[in-house]
Amino acid sequence: MRNYTTETEPTPVVGPWLDDLLPELIEFRRDLHAHPELSFQEFRTTDKLCERLEAVGLKPRRLEGTGLIVDVGQGPIATAIRGDIDALPIIEETGLPFASKIHGVTHACGHDIHTTAVLGVALVLQRMHQEEPLSGTVRIIFQPAEETMPGGALSCIEQGVLEGVPRIMALHCDPRINVGQVGTRIGAITSASDTIKVELTGRGGHTSRPHLTEELVFALAQIAVNVPAVLSRRVDVRSGVSVVWGQIHAGSAPNAIPATGFMAGTMRCLDRDAWQSAGDLLDDVVKEIAAPYGVTVHLEHVRGVPPVVNSEEETAIIEAAARAELGRHAVVLTPQSMGGEDFAWFLADLPGAMMRLGTRTPGGEEYDLHRGDYIVDERALGCGVRVLTAAALRTIRDLDEGPENANI
Ligand code: NI
Repeated sequence: MRNYTTETEPTPVVGPWLDDLLPELIEFRRDLHAHPELSFQEFRTTDKLCERLEAVGLKPRRLEGTGLIVDVGQGPIATAIRGDIDALPIIEETGLPFASKIHGVTHACGHDIHTTAVLGVALVLQRMHQEEPLSGTVRIIFQPAEETMPGGALSCIEQGVLEGVPRIMALHCDPRINVGQVGTRIGAITSASDTIKVELTGRGGHTSRPHLTEELVFALAQIAVNVPAVLSRRVDVRSGVSVVWGQIHAGSAPNAIPATGFMAGTMRCLDRDAWQSAGDLLDDVVKEIAAPYGVTVHLEHVRGVPPVVNSEEETAIIEAAARAELGRHAVVLTPQSMGGEDFAWFLADLPGAMMRLGTRTPGGEEYDLHRGDYIVDERALGCGVRVLTAAALRTIRDLDEGPENANI
């Protein structure tokens, strides 16, 4: 593990290449913001991106439906950079002059910033490449449908976007971090959340003769209490596995044992491996707890996304890039979010990292993601371009020098 943080005084390298592009990028972002598109419907966004990339001589490849990839530079791929492009079915309440023109749809998760920042990375790298050829390729992935389950990342991967890619990096807006800073964390930065639905059926009957029935109210109660209990003993507590029930329904009379019953809840988990094993265990435990009561169990377990787990080296590359571009105090530690993020699928077989991009005006209002009133401090856009471009350049330098003697 190299130590990227002991370098001498950092010098920003990206800023001068970006400065005169920024007004155009801000305009691009405002246009996207005014024309948000839901998951897998990002046709206009995809067209706009292709147009802009082709205008500088790049050759984007459209993915099936929506989304695209584009390679910048030449030679082996040093890294991929991913930006998600979809909006949410939420009514915008910002009152901004460029607020959404599509009623009930808005970029309440900041994906307009992600898309434009990653476009900025492509444009800056292409400028550099035209001035003096880069000695590596950066693959830019504009991914559709992050806001769906299990997420558009899977369809991108099926279409081969990761072929030849050794690592991947991404960003996500964070309204709790001041603009000019980025949040990082080694290890899990988001969480997993699955939905579980259990339906029981059995012979009902009189409550005076439960032995002649399959007593499913009692069985439901056992499942409600004992599934969380078993998981708490069988899975490492540090993985934060928690099963919480939100619905339970059965019966209609105090003296009648019903023939059907239903319960549903969520399983959340902070750890990728534990998510996998706890999920399998959960299915077995539900069935085995119900088994002695003779009821029939129908279980529907919808797997969400695994946690995004940031690798050490890629996190260090982003941190070094952020300090060089934005200053020594540009990096803050970010807590693990309980939310899900489908960038996790890209990290299933690859090292990589996602950073949090500060979007809060210092001293200004606090917002949250997925809210109709979320306003981004637009200075975040330039910060995102600078940090991701600088990080990509570091990975190209790695290719040149080899990981052993890289002096990053
Ligand atoms: Ni998001």
